[in-house]
This record gives sequence, structure tokens and C-alpha cells, in this order.
Amino acid sequence: MQPRCLLLFPFLFFPGTWAEPEAGSPMLQLRHFVTFQNATSMQVGGLGLVGDINIGCVDRRTWDIHYHQPWLRPALPKGDWDVIESSIKSYLRDFNSLVQTLITHTSMSFPFVFQSSIGCKLQPNGTTRTYLVIGYEGQDLLRFHLIKGTWDRVPDNEVSAAAEHFLNNATTLNELIQVLLNVTCVDILERFTEYGRADLERQEPPTATVFARTAGPAQLLLVCRITGFYPRPISVAWLRDGHEVPPGPALNTSAVLPNADLTYQVYSVLTVAPRDGHSYACRVRHRSLGTRSLLVPWGKSNAGLIAGLGVALLAAVVVSGALWVWRRRKCH
Ligand SMILES: *[C@@H]1O[C@H](CO)[C@@H](O)[C@H](O)[C@H]1NC(C)=O
Ligand SMILES: *[C@@H]1O[C@H](CO)[C@@H](O)[C@H](O)[C@H]1NC(C)=O
Ligand SMILES: *[C@@H]1O[C@H](CO)[C@@H](O)[C@H](O)[C@H]1NC(C)=O
Ligand SMILES: *[C@@H]1O[C@H](CO)[C@@H](O)[C@H](O)[C@H]1NC(C)=O
Ligand SMILES: *[C@@H]1O[C@H](CO)[C@@H](O)[C@H](O)[C@H]1NC(C)=O
Repeated sequence: MQPRCLLLFPFLFFPGTWAEPEAGSPMLQLRHFVTFQNATSMQVGGLGLVGDINIGCVDRRTWDIHYHQPWLRPALPKGDWDVIESSIKSYLRDFNSLVQTLITHTSMSFPFVFQSSIGCKLQPNGTTRTYLVIGYEGQDLLRFHLIKGTWDRVPDNEVSAAAEHFLNNATTLNELIQVLLNVTCVDILERFTEYGRADLERQEPPTATVFARTAGPAQLLLVCRITGFYPRPISVAWLRDGHEVPPGPALNTSAVLPNADLTYQVYSVLTVAPRDGHSYACRVRHRSLGTRSLLVPWGKSNAGLIAGLGVALLAAVVVSGALWVWRRRKCH
């Protein structure tokens, strides 16, 4: 069966919006793209996100909403969903007629892709942060200015100038967008964060492994690989003899990357000299661990830890065995 919604495709176009989440509510985002093969063939896709959770998408053929989270539909009354669904359809229609206008007034050539992305979030001080951007060929083309209620072109070229001209003339639409961004978006977001709380506040603890790779006769790369955690923010550090290694050329931490199961992974590499006499450990801090941190030692101390654990286990078995014998004696 062919998937009816293109889920991953739009993620390719908005790398900037993957920034680290900040305090406050998660961001509600709706993203859409339309590819034009030629004057008669186009393909539309769209999806919604709360934070990094995919809440739903727009059907490629019917433009109906597919609900991806069980809490999404109950979060709003049916009448609201009907309004949202018909607004999405008229938005997609209007967007396509804007593109048709641009085709006739500029020298754009097929094939090309347009995107749009709209989002809002509540900041800790109660103010709202919003954005609305139109993209063309993977680059921002126009941004909506909430206070002025007008569009600003990002690059200065023929397509952005024409689009700015047509959109800034649509004053009624722009007034509607102001209310939509500043009021409606946040109202909806509050409902979604209430109904989706269990998913949004989900916590998965990280697991970490430390291993070494030889990078030459005088270099050893210590790798700390951390995976399976949620939410995304995490702190990773290397300790040398118990002290944090400061940032520098020897230290390299990757970007936080998504796993397929909505958990994340990251790794950190420390370059050291072989047998330098120091002890090393990887330290991980994450919301799921509370105030504790995960400490994974490397090398000699690694064996020490495992041996220590073995002794402790043995001691535990001996003690509980003794207790069991003692209790049995007491009862009989
Ligand atoms: C437009 O593109 C579609 C899909 O690539 C193709 O099937 C169709 O024949 C094209 N039409 C014209 C007029 O080129
Ligand atoms: C509210 O907080 C945001 C950052 O979270 C800041 O940019 C903004 O200026 C603050 N606004 C007020 C009125 O304090
Ligand atoms: C957005 O809403 C706030 C309060 O809800 C209001 O003070 C502000 O003027 C609005 N801004 C715009 C641009 O509509
Ligand atoms: C701007 O809007 C006015 C009235 O809404 C309309 O008559 C005019 O054709 C529009 N201009 C452009 C360039 O779309
Ligand atoms: C860190 O790793 C990346 C990817 O492997 C590499 O491109 C970059 O040069 C490294 N930086 C340092 C300082 O080693």
C-alpha cells in the first residue's frame, strides 16, 4: 500500500527549526509543501507537530486530516475540527493560486517546490512567540511580520519581490493571519498540551557505552555513545581523573540525532594519548535521571567497576542466603 501522507519529506526543508527546545510550552507547527512538476502536475503534503511529536498529516489526494495521536481529535470539539479542515483546504487552494500568479508574472521554471511553515509557542513569561515563513526551493522566501501585519522578503530577487507585492496587497488575509498566529494558534496549542501531556512529558533514560578506537600510534579515540533518551536536551561531558575536560580540539560531540522510535542519540569523542596514566569517564545528565548523572568509566577503572559489582553481588547473595537460613531457623 502506498503511504498517503509524506511524513519525512518536509523535514528536509526546515533544518533551522530543529533548534534545541527552550523553556515554556512546546511549539505547535504546521508545515506544508507543494511540488510543481509542470503546469498541470503538482503534489501537496502537510503535517503538524507539537514539539517533536508528529500529530497528524494532510492526505495527498483528498487534503483531509489524518490524526496520528489518539488524544488529538478529543482535544477540540468536532465543529472546530470541521473549521480547521476547511481552513486548511482553502489555504492550500489559495496558496496554489498565489503560485499560479507567480508563474505568470516571473520567469520561474519547472520543476520547483514551495513550502510554508507556521508555528507558535508560549514563553515562560506568558508572551507568545510565532512565525510564518514561505519557502521556495528549500530557502526562506518571505516572512510574516506579526506586529505590522505585512510580509518581508528574505532574499531580494524576482520571485520574492512578486510574492511580497501580491501578499502585501491582501490586507484582509493579513489581518486574519495576525489573529490566527497571535490568538487561535496559542488557544489550540493549550488544548493540545493538556490532552497530549503524557506523550509530551514522556521520559526515557539514556543508555551509554564507552569504547576506544585507535587513530594512529600516538592517538586513541575514546567514544561515548548515548542512545534511547527522550526528551531531546542532554548534557555529555568527559571526566579526566574526575575533572571535566574543557572544550578544545581534543573533544568533539555530535549533534543530537533522532532514532526511529522517537528517542534520540548522541556521541562524544575524546582524543587521548595511549597509556597516558589518566582515568577517563563519560558523564551524562538528562531530565529522566533527575539530579543523578550516568557515569561510564573507560579502561582500567571499567574492569574495576565490573569486578566491584561482582563482589557486591556475591556479598548480596551470601547475606540474603544467610538471612533466609536464619529466618527459617527462627520459624521452626
Ligand atoms: C506533467 O508531469 C506529470 C508527472 O511527472 C506527467 O505525467 C505529465 O505528462 C506532465 N504533463 C505535461 C503537460 O508535461
Ligand atoms: C519574554 O521572554 C522572551 C524569551 O523567553 C523574551 O524574548 C521576551 O522579550 C520576553 N518578553 C517580556 C515582555 O518580558
Ligand atoms: C497579540 O495579543 C496580545 C494579547 O493577547 C496583544 O496585546 C497584542 O497586541 C497582539 N498583537 C498583535 C500584533 O495582534
Ligand atoms: C490589490 O488589491 C486591490 C483591491 O483589493 C485589487 O483591485 C488589485 O488588483 C490588487 N493588486 C494586485 C497587484 O493584486
Ligand atoms: C568533529 O567531528 C566532525 C564529524 O566527524 C568533523 O567533521 C570535525 O572536523 C570534528 N572536529 C574536531 C574538532 O575534531
